[in-house]
Amino acid sequence: MRASWWIPLIAGLVVACSPTGGVAEPEAAANEPMSASNPPLIIAHRGASGLYPEHTLEAYGAAIDMGADFIETDLVMTRDGVLVARHDRYLSDSTDVADHPEFADRRVIKPVGGSPMEDWFVEDFTLAELKSLRARQAFTGRSAEYDDMFAIPTFTEILGLVAISNSSGQRVGVYPELKSPEVYAGLGMDMPGAVLAAIEAAGLKEVGAPVYLQSFHPGTLRALSGQTDWPLIQLLPASGGERLSPDEIATYAAGIGPWKEIMVQFRGGPQAYVDLAHSAGLEVHPYTYRADDVAPGFETFEGELTATFGLGVDAIFTDHPGKALAVRDGE
Ligand code: G3P
Ligand code: CA
Repeated sequence: MRASWWIPLIAGLVVACSPTGGVAEPEAAANEPMSASNPPLIIAHRGASGLYPEHTLEAYGAAIDMGADFIETDLVMTRDGVLVARHDRYLSDSTDVADHPEFADRRVIKPVGGSPMEDWFVEDFTLAELKSLRARQAFTGRSAEYDDMFAIPTFTEILGLVAISNSSGQRVGVYPELKSPEVYAGLGMDMPGAVLAAIEAAGLKEVGAPVYLQSFHPGTLRALSGQTDWPLIQLLPASGGERLSPDEIATYAAGIGPWKEIMVQFRGGPQAYVDLAHSAGLEVHPYTYRADDVAPGFETFEGELTATFGLGVDAIFTDHPGKALAVRDGE
């Protein structure tokens, strides 16, 4: 009998709805983490996205130069089945697509997160068409200095950057997130298979580059656990979705990636949350730490990170890897 510790606890380990529905029995043993994580790993969330337009080779390269342990890349797929890095399937927030009259008729209404959205969608563009767009700063209040300069990178291009960095002596890992895999499955595209094939083709094992694979979708991770030895991270959203216990998640994943407020709101407090996950054998990689959006209760980014590191988390996702590294390494 699995522990039912979570039932009376608000903001426990809540996971997104599985595309297959329900809570399936585990299909494979848990994957092992790449390494013990002490001190905590610094994951450059969407690259050094606090400074550069997110999910561009320039943002990833800057993060690698800063010394980030991992670069995080959200993945979506083009009409011709190519994995590219974007946080969303829609393009208006992070590119200049609205300024391209040749694509005006691609603006359509589709459901996103359960609501209709009128926008341009990656799956309606070929890679060649997407490459004619330029990235823009997606966050209000951040510098637009680099807008309209950088292209949307393919996953293969990002993996090439990681492979070259490791071959050159700069150790860095890649931390891909499979976005909306059920949508692509519905379009006849095998996103998990494409991700694994791209990583293998890039030769990351050969150059010693570590990899974590992440998703909000338990069904996708369960399936992946039977197909790969790379460690898997179950992302936990701010609200909604299916509930699974840590023991259950540990049957297929190496760790959890909770929205950071889940830890804060946990009935026993953030330390109890981290300890509980660790006792189930799960690493804890909370998201997202932003120097320009510090959590309530903290005066500074440094203060928030110091408190978070003190919990014994194994990694953090941050838009500001340079600042996070300085805190972690006491510089
Ligand atoms: O993957 C960690 C974190 O990025 C999850 O949230 O929406 O920013 O991809 P999101
Ligand atoms: Ca992500």
